[in-house]
Amino acid sequence: MRKKIIAGNWKMNKTPMEALELVEQIKDKCNVSECDVVFCVPFIDLIPVIEKVKDTNISVGAQNMYFEDNGAYTGEISPKMLKESGVKYVILGHSERRQYFCETDETVNKKVKKAIEYGLIPIICVGETLEQREKGVTVDFINVQVKSALYNVSKEDAENIVIAYEPIWAIGTGKTATNAQAQEVCAEIRKTLSSIYDNETADKMRIQYGGSVNEKNAKDLFAMGDIDGGLVGGASLKAEFIDIVKSI
Ligand code: PGA
Repeated sequence: MRKKIIAGNWKMNKTPMEALELVEQIKDKCNVSECDVVFCVPFIDLIPVIEKVKDTNISVGAQNMYFEDNGAYTGEISPKMLKESGVKYVILGHSERRQYFCETDETVNKKVKKAIEYGLIPIICVGETLEQREKGVTVDFINVQVKSALYNVSKEDAENIVIAYEPIWAIGTGKTATNAQAQEVCAEIRKTLSSIYDNETADKMRIQYGGSVNEKNAKDLFAMGDIDGGLVGGASLKAEFIDIVKSI
């Protein structure tokens, strides 16, 4: 039985002071054992937030990292830095990074392998545009994203990886995929994982849905057979995130 995982993706929101205020407000109610709860916060908020949740079951994640250990890469953050700071998860290949910051399937794969080397758990984001959905190429496109991200990743390492299915047309738009649409693609992703590894490995890997998840739609989405929780953007910045966690 896969343990559900609810991750908040704060994106580029909350100064360190604002971050601490939000965490103070929600941490007791998010301190649950039924599911894994992760706050993926901006780099500058990582250390204060890690300190703030240290006596809880809540984990902290970054939203990106570079694929080298250290060196002349002005402005980048390495997995080594994240690990030493107490970060547990790292979102990789979010569609906003692919769209605005030239992230490609190739760089995502390099980052996935580097994150694993440092014991960080990748949350790999995949998802189609509206145009791709309308053309009927959603599943093919996502299969390529999943296979590329996991290229040369062993099955032992893959077991812990989280995949987040986030249709781009549903992100920040208030337009959630229906339960059936989300389930259909997550089931296809699991089939792809089976074909890359085997059924047992695919059964262990967690697949989240993301895209306008809120306290009203979370329960039904998370009840679908292949949806093991959510990656939550806008609604993770408010106390409403508690209700999403409680919906498990
Ligand atoms: P949203 O964002 O919940 O605001 O749609 C989800 C995400 O981008 O991870």
